[in-house]
Amino acid sequence: MKAQIIDGVALAAKVKAQVKKDAENFLHQFGRKTGLAVILVGDNAASQIYVRNKIRACEENSIQSFHFCLPENTPEQQLIELIIRLNSDPNVDGILMQLPLPAHISQAKILSYISPQKDADGFLAVNAGNLMLGYPGLNACTPCGIIEMIKSTGQAVDGKQAVVIGRSNIVGKPTALMLLDLNATVTMCHSRTHNFANFSRHADILVVAAGRKGLVTGDMVKAGAIVIDVGMNRVDGKLYGDVDFDSVADVAGYITPVPGGVGPMTVAMLLKNIVTAATALKL
Ligand code: GUN
Repeated sequence: MKAQIIDGVALAAKVKAQVKKDAENFLHQFGRKTGLAVILVGDNAASQIYVRNKIRACEENSIQSFHFCLPENTPEQQLIELIIRLNSDPNVDGILMQLPLPAHISQAKILSYISPQKDADGFLAVNAGNLMLGYPGLNACTPCGIIEMIKSTGQAVDGKQAVVIGRSNIVGKPTALMLLDLNATVTMCHSRTHNFANFSRHADILVVAAGRKGLVTGDMVKAGAIVIDVGMNRVDGKLYGDVDFDSVADVAGYITPVPGGVGPMTVAMLLKNIVTAATALKL
């Protein structure tokens, strides 16, 4: 193996240590903890695990969490009323609507009710627009974590070739915009790209968020590249990335593992967003 591993657990611990300090300063200054409201509708098993991890991370880092676990058949209107109440609750700085929502609920409609200043996930159109325009706002947590991991290598991003595989609203698109903002030359590949390896082989920075186990193999990667694996593919209870770790690690300069890579960073950046929402965007 040639590549250095970018340890998401260790990097997330560093981010969380700073968040905890900031959260404690907030408590001393304002006499209350910063707060995150987490809403889960239905009983999706993966969502339950994610929500539990987020709530535990809040508790460990001096952030108050408010947990709303609603049944699968919750009417859309009831969810809207809860969000409106949380928008005006002064103890709630961030609202996280765990996705996916049940089929009878419109995700776009529900998210549009969340106050942009409390958009802990950075999923709202206003915040996505802020990112595109380079204005301050709350940004999606996984892309923020990816950028921190790339920066942790100490390698320059300016002028480099970056390739993002996957064009989702919550990972691919915002990650591409953040890399562009750091002056990378960015190419986006997706499920309709013909022979994406023609692009990935030229990438100094390769972000893979396609949702397909082992999609990227060593022969598709440039020697010395930074490879960020966003894949979370669960097979027989085991977690696999989108990158074939062993073959890519023989070629790349840096690589993130799955598990223990991007996942822990996503949670750390969510906590950072809550403190940002409580301080920078309000004062
Ligand atoms: N479902 C899967 N990942 C996420 C996430 O990061 N945030 C929310 N709200 N829902 C998700």
